[in-house]
Amino acid sequence: MRRTLIASIALALAATLAAPASAHQPVFLLPTDTTPNAGPLLVDGTVSFAIRASFTKSGQKQAFRAALKEGDILEVQYLIIDKKPEKALKNTKLPQLVITSPLGKKFTMKFTERTKFLEEYSRTMYLYLGRYSAPAEAGIYQFVATSRARAAITIAVGYQEIPGQVLRGPASTPPMAQPTPTPAAVAPTPKPSPTPEPEMTTQAGYTMAKVKENNSAASCWSVINGNVYNLTQWINSHPGGPSVIRGLCGVDGTSTFNGKHRGQSNPTSTLASYLLGPLAK
Ligand code: HEM
Repeated sequence: MRRTLIASIALALAATLAAPASAHQPVFLLPTDTTPNAGPLLVDGTVSFAIRASFTKSGQKQAFRAALKEGDILEVQYLIIDKKPEKALKNTKLPQLVITSPLGKKFTMKFTERTKFLEEYSRTMYLYLGRYSAPAEAGIYQFVATSRARAAITIAVGYQEIPGQVLRGPASTPPMAQPTPTPAAVAPTPKPSPTPEPEMTTQAGYTMAKVKENNSAASCWSVINGNVYNLTQWINSHPGGPSVIRGLCGVDGTSTFNGKHRGQSNPTSTLASYLLGPLAK
């Protein structure tokens, strides 16, 4: 009998991989993260994360979720890097960020400033455009960014400079049902998605056959240490150059990655932010 298997949730353990000088931990949204349920879930929305969304043209969406508990504060900042094209864009052309609370209240991030901020860790100059801080409702907040031109933005969430967890996987599976090494970090609150949608077209998971299909710079998946990663967005961001990442597309890149970066916290935590899920056998 074929049973519908609950596809496994990928658990990116930033906890064990965090960079020492703990700036906001980066999470890179994927082109497929078009709805909150498709996007990653920040298991504790008070932990500081820097969510990177990048768009090639107007009308694209990227989304994610963050869980908060009663008594928490929701802190969100909207930043862009202080360079073109973003810095040259009028506010009306920058991606719009809409946050929906667990009780369904919608809030659009207002752009009220252009304050410079040097991020020491990456030596990158950012501009703050807006900040939001309010007592949190318990449950899952949804964040949806919609582009109005080519642009990349950073959405900083949380304030605790401690390692955090990011879950990726089918939204229909409550994260609470998953084994997690630090159960205390999971919000003891409602189901993550009021309207679960099937996010994966198949339950087979991330097979080697699928990895092989995504073997180009346009869609670049790779297997590293038994997990499947979507490295498409990383190709042109890699400090060691795009060609080595392109070389990982569609193949098992374990030995190549480990040969260069084994045990290095920054590459390992960057890699974790691109996790799709475990390689299906
Ligand atoms: C998905 C796979 C990879 C990720 C996520 C990744 C990530 C990174 C990161 C974050 C850095 C900056 C170093 C730091 O700040 O500590 C870096 C640098 C670098 N990477 Fe990678 N990398 C990957 C694969 C590779 C591969 C396969 C090679 C070569 C075989 C490579 C070669 C380099 C080189 C040469 C640098 C520049 C400086 C250095 O040696 O650290 N990377 N990478």
